[in-house]
Amino acid sequence: MTMKKTRSLFTLLAVGIMIWEGCSKKEEPPPSTEGYSVNGGTTSHKNGSICMDCHNASATTTYQWVVAGSVYKPDQTTPAPNGILFFWTKANGTGDIISTLEIDANGNFFTNVSILPGLGAYPQLRGVSGDVKNMPVLATTGNCNSCHGVTDDPIWVN
Ligand code: HEC
Ligand code: HEC
Repeated sequence: MTMKKTRSLFTLLAVGIMIWEGCSKKEEPPPSTEGYSVNGGTTSHKNGSICMDCHNASATTTYQWVVAGSVYKPDQTTPAPNGILFFWTKANGTGDIISTLEIDANGNFFTNVSILPGLGAYPQLRGVSGDVKNMPVLATTGNCNSCHGVTDDPIWVN
């Protein structure tokens, strides 16, 4: 568990460095929230919308998110900032951690990095209070708000 956690942190770090190096050829370094959400970040918008309606390859947005969505408090209306998403190989926080993604200060999460395997992963949400919520079935798309808030309850946590 600790080893796996350490390894996934290393992966994140490696990805971070790759992004930084990839973008460092431009004139100015981009803000750290450009490629993926971080706790405390404020660059996102449009809570609850289906992010990939706009942020997709055929649209005119600059950024194409691979995984994106919104997280709410138990009232399912107030955004819940600064939790963390873990993506597991098996249901209910079992198997291996594939990747992690921090939720920003607006209660949104997003990344343009391919952090989900093609077959999908089991999302687990850990709120700032320590509350843990597991998605019981495989998420096969990173467009989380295409179900949550539409055909299913919004994603929520304490
Ligand atoms: C109606 C279209 C639309 C929807 C829906 C939408 N966005 Fe955006 N978003 C944009 C446009 C346009 C921009 C400006 C930058 C660009 O072209 O990508 C933007 C910019 C952003 C940025 C700023 C990137 C940066 O650092 O400059 C973030 C972060 C972001 N969106 C996240 C989200 C998230 C998360 C969702 C879903 C909760 C979402 N967006 C839904 C259209 C949309
Ligand atoms: C195909 C529809 C669908 C997609 C796409 C989807 N989910 Fe879910 N999710 C569900 C269903 C159904 C449940 C169980 C019932 C419920 O809680 O709404 C669930 C439950 C959850 C839960 C536990 C309950 C909660 O609200 O906290 C979390 C966390 C979650 N999903 C996160 C995600 C994340 C993150 C993504 C995107 C990577 C995602 N889901 C994509 C359908 C979906």
